[in-house]
Amino acid sequence: MAEEDDLSFVSVLSRSFERFGPYEEIIPRWFHDQFIKTYIFEENGQRVGFFMLGLMWPVWFSRMLDLMAIAVVPEKRGRGIGTSMVEAAKRIARSKGYHFLRAHVGCDNQPALALFRRASFRLKKRIERYYPSGLAAYEFVADLRN
Ligand SMILES: CC(C)(COP(=O)(O)OP(=O)(O)OC[C@H]1O[C@@H](n2cnc3c(N)ncnc32)[C@H](O)[C@@H]1OP(=O)(O)O)[C@@H](O)C(=O)NCCC(=O)NCCS
Repeated sequence: MAEEDDLSFVSVLSRSFERFGPYEEIIPRWFHDQFIKTYIFEENGQRVGFFMLGLMWPVWFSRMLDLMAIAVVPEKRGRGIGTSMVEAAKRIARSKGYHFLRAHVGCDNQPALALFRRASFRLKKRIERYYPSGLAAYEFVADLRN
Protein backbone atom coordinates (compact mmCIF):
# COMPACT_ATOMS: atom_id res chain seq x y z
CA MET A 1 0.00 0.00 0.00
CA ALA A 2 1.15 3.50 -0.81
CA GLU A 3 2.58 5.82 1.81
CA GLU A 4 2.78 9.59 1.77
CA ASP A 5 6.23 9.60 0.13
CA ASP A 6 4.79 7.72 -2.87
CA LEU A 7 2.63 10.70 -3.79
CA SER A 8 5.20 12.38 -6.06
CA PHE A 9 5.68 9.12 -8.05
CA VAL A 10 1.92 8.72 -8.38
CA SER A 11 1.46 12.39 -9.36
CA VAL A 12 4.11 12.27 -12.09
CA LEU A 13 2.73 9.02 -13.51
CA SER A 14 -0.80 10.44 -13.47
CA ARG A 15 0.26 12.60 -16.44
CA SER A 16 -0.47 9.40 -18.42
CA PHE A 17 -4.16 10.29 -18.00
CA GLU A 18 -3.92 13.92 -19.14
CA ARG A 19 -5.98 13.49 -22.31
CA PHE A 20 -8.89 12.27 -20.17
CA GLY A 21 -8.99 15.38 -17.98
CA PRO A 22 -7.20 17.14 -15.12
CA TYR A 23 -6.04 13.90 -13.49
CA GLU A 24 -2.88 15.58 -12.19
CA GLU A 25 -5.29 17.25 -9.73
CA ILE A 26 -7.82 14.42 -9.42
CA ILE A 27 -5.32 11.63 -8.64
CA PRO A 28 -3.63 13.41 -5.67
CA ARG A 29 -7.15 14.13 -4.34
CA TRP A 30 -8.04 10.44 -4.62
CA PHE A 31 -4.66 9.59 -3.00
CA HIS A 32 -5.81 11.40 0.15
CA ASP A 33 -9.42 10.16 0.06
CA GLN A 34 -10.03 7.82 2.99
CA PHE A 35 -12.33 5.60 0.88
CA ILE A 36 -9.72 5.07 -1.86
CA LYS A 37 -6.60 2.95 -1.40
CA THR A 38 -3.50 3.31 -3.55
CA TYR A 39 -1.14 0.40 -4.21
CA ILE A 40 2.40 0.70 -5.55
CA PHE A 41 3.97 -2.02 -7.72
CA GLU A 42 7.72 -2.35 -7.23
CA GLU A 43 10.30 -4.26 -9.26
CA ASN A 44 13.79 -4.68 -7.77
CA GLY A 45 12.96 -2.01 -5.21
CA GLN A 46 11.92 0.50 -7.90
CA ARG A 47 8.41 1.84 -8.24
CA VAL A 48 7.09 0.86 -11.68
CA GLY A 49 3.33 1.29 -11.37
CA PHE A 50 0.34 2.03 -9.21
CA PHE A 51 -3.36 1.32 -9.01
CA MET A 52 -6.22 2.72 -6.94
CA LEU A 53 -9.20 0.85 -5.51
CA GLY A 54 -12.30 2.54 -4.13
CA LEU A 55 -15.93 3.36 -4.61
CA MET A 56 -16.56 5.58 -7.61
CA TRP A 57 -20.11 6.32 -6.46
CA PRO A 58 -20.29 5.43 -2.76
CA VAL A 59 -23.22 3.10 -2.23
CA TRP A 60 -23.83 1.47 1.09
CA PHE A 61 -23.33 -2.33 1.01
CA SER A 62 -22.14 -2.21 -2.59
CA ARG A 63 -20.73 -5.52 -3.85
CA MET A 64 -18.83 -3.60 -6.55
CA LEU A 65 -15.38 -2.11 -6.09
CA ASP A 66 -13.84 0.25 -8.66
CA LEU A 67 -10.36 0.00 -10.08
CA MET A 68 -10.22 3.77 -10.31
CA ALA A 69 -6.80 4.19 -11.89
CA ILE A 70 -3.94 2.02 -13.10
CA ALA A 71 -0.68 3.02 -14.75
CA VAL A 72 2.76 1.62 -15.49
CA VAL A 73 5.83 3.81 -16.12
CA PRO A 74 6.19 4.17 -19.92
CA GLU A 75 9.54 2.37 -20.21
CA LYS A 76 8.19 -0.75 -18.44
CA ARG A 77 4.94 -1.19 -20.38
CA GLY A 78 4.14 -4.28 -22.44
CA ARG A 79 5.95 -6.63 -20.02
CA GLY A 80 3.00 -7.92 -18.01
CA ILE A 81 3.17 -5.50 -15.08
CA GLY A 82 -0.30 -4.11 -15.82
CA THR A 83 -1.66 -7.66 -15.90
CA SER A 84 0.00 -8.45 -12.55
CA MET A 85 -1.53 -5.33 -11.02
CA VAL A 86 -5.03 -6.17 -12.30
CA GLU A 87 -4.70 -9.68 -10.83
CA ALA A 88 -3.54 -8.15 -7.52
CA ALA A 89 -6.51 -5.76 -7.59
CA LYS A 90 -8.87 -8.71 -8.09
CA ARG A 91 -7.31 -10.62 -5.18
CA ILE A 92 -7.59 -7.60 -2.87
CA ALA A 93 -11.20 -6.92 -3.86
CA ARG A 94 -12.13 -10.60 -3.39
CA SER A 95 -10.42 -10.71 0.02
CA LYS A 96 -12.52 -7.72 1.12
CA GLY A 97 -15.70 -9.56 0.18
CA TYR A 98 -16.55 -7.74 -3.06
CA HIS A 99 -18.23 -9.75 -5.82
CA PHE A 100 -17.37 -7.47 -8.74
CA LEU A 101 -14.48 -5.27 -9.83
CA ARG A 102 -15.35 -2.47 -12.27
CA ALA A 103 -13.09 -0.41 -14.53
CA HIS A 104 -13.77 2.42 -16.98
CA VAL A 105 -11.50 2.52 -20.01
CA GLY A 106 -11.17 5.14 -22.74
CA CYS A 107 -12.76 3.73 -25.92
CA ASP A 108 -9.55 4.25 -27.91
CA ASN A 109 -7.14 3.14 -25.18
CA GLN A 110 -5.93 -0.03 -26.94
CA PRO A 111 -3.35 -1.17 -24.34
CA ALA A 112 -5.88 -0.81 -21.52
CA LEU A 113 -8.66 -2.52 -23.52
CA ALA A 114 -6.30 -5.45 -24.23
CA LEU A 115 -5.33 -5.57 -20.56
CA PHE A 116 -8.89 -5.81 -19.20
CA ARG A 117 -10.14 -8.19 -21.89
CA ARG A 118 -7.29 -10.55 -21.19
CA ALA A 119 -8.01 -10.33 -17.45
CA SER A 120 -11.56 -11.68 -18.08
CA PHE A 121 -13.38 -8.37 -17.61
CA ARG A 122 -16.70 -8.25 -19.51
CA LEU A 123 -17.76 -5.20 -21.49
CA LYS A 124 -21.01 -3.84 -19.98
CA LYS A 125 -21.68 -0.56 -21.78
CA ARG A 126 -20.31 2.52 -23.49
CA ILE A 127 -20.69 5.81 -21.61
CA GLU A 128 -20.53 8.95 -23.77
CA ARG A 129 -18.63 11.95 -22.32
CA TYR A 130 -17.55 9.87 -19.33
CA TYR A 131 -14.27 11.71 -18.82
CA PRO A 132 -13.91 15.40 -17.88
CA SER A 133 -12.26 15.97 -21.30
CA GLY A 134 -15.45 14.70 -23.00
CA LEU A 135 -14.05 11.36 -24.18
CA ALA A 136 -16.23 8.24 -24.00
CA ALA A 137 -15.46 5.19 -21.87
CA TYR A 138 -16.32 1.52 -21.88
CA GLU A 139 -17.41 0.07 -18.56
CA PHE A 140 -15.86 -3.32 -17.80
CA VAL A 141 -16.78 -5.61 -14.92
CA ALA A 142 -15.01 -8.71 -13.62
CA ASP A 143 -17.02 -11.27 -11.66
CA LEU A 144 -14.85 -12.25 -8.70
CA ARG A 145 -17.01 -15.18 -7.61
CA ASN A 146 -15.66 -17.67 -10.18
C1 LIG B 1 -2.75 0.23 -19.64
C2 LIG B 1 -1.41 -0.07 -18.98
C3 LIG B 1 -1.56 0.03 -17.46
C4 LIG B 1 -1.01 -1.51 -19.35
O1 LIG B 1 0.16 -1.84 -18.60
P1 LIG B 1 1.23 -2.88 -19.21
O2 LIG B 1 2.19 -3.23 -18.14
O3 LIG B 1 1.77 -2.36 -20.50
O4 LIG B 1 0.28 -4.13 -19.50
P2 LIG B 1 0.73 -5.57 -19.96
O5 LIG B 1 2.19 -5.61 -20.30
O6 LIG B 1 0.26 -6.51 -18.89
O7 LIG B 1 -0.09 -5.73 -21.32
C5 LIG B 1 -1.50 -5.86 -21.35
C6 LIG B 1 -1.93 -5.99 -22.79
O8 LIG B 1 -1.78 -4.72 -23.47
C7 LIG B 1 -1.06 -4.95 -24.69
N1 LIG B 1 -0.31 -3.73 -24.96
C8 LIG B 1 0.71 -3.24 -24.26
N2 LIG B 1 1.14 -2.09 -24.85
C9 LIG B 1 0.35 -1.90 -25.95
C10 LIG B 1 0.28 -0.91 -26.97
N3 LIG B 1 1.13 0.15 -26.97
N4 LIG B 1 -0.68 -1.01 -27.94
C11 LIG B 1 -1.54 -2.06 -27.94
N5 LIG B 1 -1.51 -3.02 -26.98
C12 LIG B 1 -0.58 -2.95 -26.02
C13 LIG B 1 -0.19 -6.13 -24.40
O9 LIG B 1 0.19 -6.76 -25.63
C14 LIG B 1 -1.13 -6.99 -23.61
O10 LIG B 1 -2.09 -7.61 -24.41
P3 LIG B 1 -1.88 -9.04 -25.03
O11 LIG B 1 -0.80 -9.72 -24.27
O12 LIG B 1 -3.22 -9.67 -24.87
O13 LIG B 1 -1.50 -8.75 -26.44
C15 LIG B 1 -0.29 0.87 -19.49
O14 LIG B 1 -0.30 0.86 -20.90
C16 LIG B 1 -0.41 2.31 -19.00
O15 LIG B 1 0.09 2.65 -17.93
N6 LIG B 1 -1.08 3.17 -19.80
C17 LIG B 1 -1.25 4.58 -19.43
C18 LIG B 1 -2.28 4.75 -18.35
C19 LIG B 1 -3.61 4.18 -18.78
O16 LIG B 1 -4.10 4.40 -19.88
N7 LIG B 1 -4.22 3.41 -17.84
C20 LIG B 1 -5.50 2.75 -18.07
C21 LIG B 1 -6.62 3.59 -17.61
S1 LIG B 1 -8.11 2.64 -17.64
